[in-house]
Amino acid sequence: TKPRILVTRAVFPDVVERLEQHFEVEANPEDAAYTKAELIAKLQDKDGVFTTPSTNMSEDVIHACPRLKAICNMAVGFNNIDLAAATRAGIMVTNTPDVLNETTADFAWALLLATARRVTESEHYLRAGKWQKWRYDTLLGMDIHGATLGILGMGRIGQAIARRSMGFDMRVIYHNRSRLDEQREARANNARYVSKEELLRTADHLVLALPYSPDVHHTIGADELALMKPSATLINIARGGIVDDAALIAALRANRLAAAGLDVFENEPAFDPGFLDLSNVVLTPHIASASEPTRRAMADCAAANLIAALTGAAPPNILNPEVNKKV
Ligand code: GLV
Ligand code: GLV
Repeated sequence: TKPRILVTRAVFPDVVERLEQHFEVEANPEDAAYTKAELIAKLQDKDGVFTTPSTNMSEDVIHACPRLKAICNMAVGFNNIDLAAATRAGIMVTNTPDVLNETTADFAWALLLATARRVTESEHYLRAGKWQKWRYDTLLGMDIHGATLGILGMGRIGQAIARRSMGFDMRVIYHNRSRLDEQREARANNARYVSKEELLRTADHLVLALPYSPDVHHTIGADELALMKPSATLINIARGGIVDDAALIAALRANRLAAAGLDVFENEPAFDPGFLDLSNVVLTPHIASASEPTRRAMADCAAANLIAALTGAAPPNILNPEVNKKV
């Protein structure tokens, strides 16, 4: 008999069909948001689960599902899964790294350009019928070319963002848990490693590209925002919770920071409505990886991981390989 799996949210129908060749699949084409109790009930007879960032695989869910052997997330970020609890329970966890690096880096630039040059605000102005004449000071923004690009979190996505800055003749500085080797720094537009404090003080445009973990909760809060230039822009394509959103709203409201471009929020999709009252923000609904080919590649990658995990092969993107060694 085939292993049983749950696909927690809607996903490309042909990916579900591929999974059906290997598994008995309970899918969710209606994209219903299951309560914790519903999720636990559905997972009672399942060997594996295909999750998306909106599925919370917390410790209590993991403990309540003793049959589960694999959790395969359709995202590179996996803060929706308690990895330590899954590892203790002997459950394999996988993510989808690499396939989204370039698309996500493209989107960081879309947000950076839109934020610094006030693109969405300009369109609102035009649509609202406010455009009566050409004026020297209408919607003045900040330059990107020649500016200093700061990147916090210089992993594969951060490096892809840095590489794109070459065409804009920018200086790149970065901070990361560990320093890159010289070759990688050279490829990342000669990025220079600096302390977090120097990064905050010096960047004209600061892009957040670090993975979320409890260690980096509110790593950008009131104190950090106060170090930034009042003319600076802040771009977050990483995860909600890295930034203290209430502190960011206060800084933007007081013009202690020029502008922010945000694809991720605390408590998304129920983000702080204070953002909506601000004109100096560009807000998007967690879509940095959302190109058609990349979302397909992420779904295919998660499916391949799940198929490998439940057929005794090594899942290509396992996050807790120690689980596999035990069996
Ligand atoms: C999307 O946010 C991802 O982590 O892949
Ligand atoms: C602007 O439109 C210019 O002509 O400089």
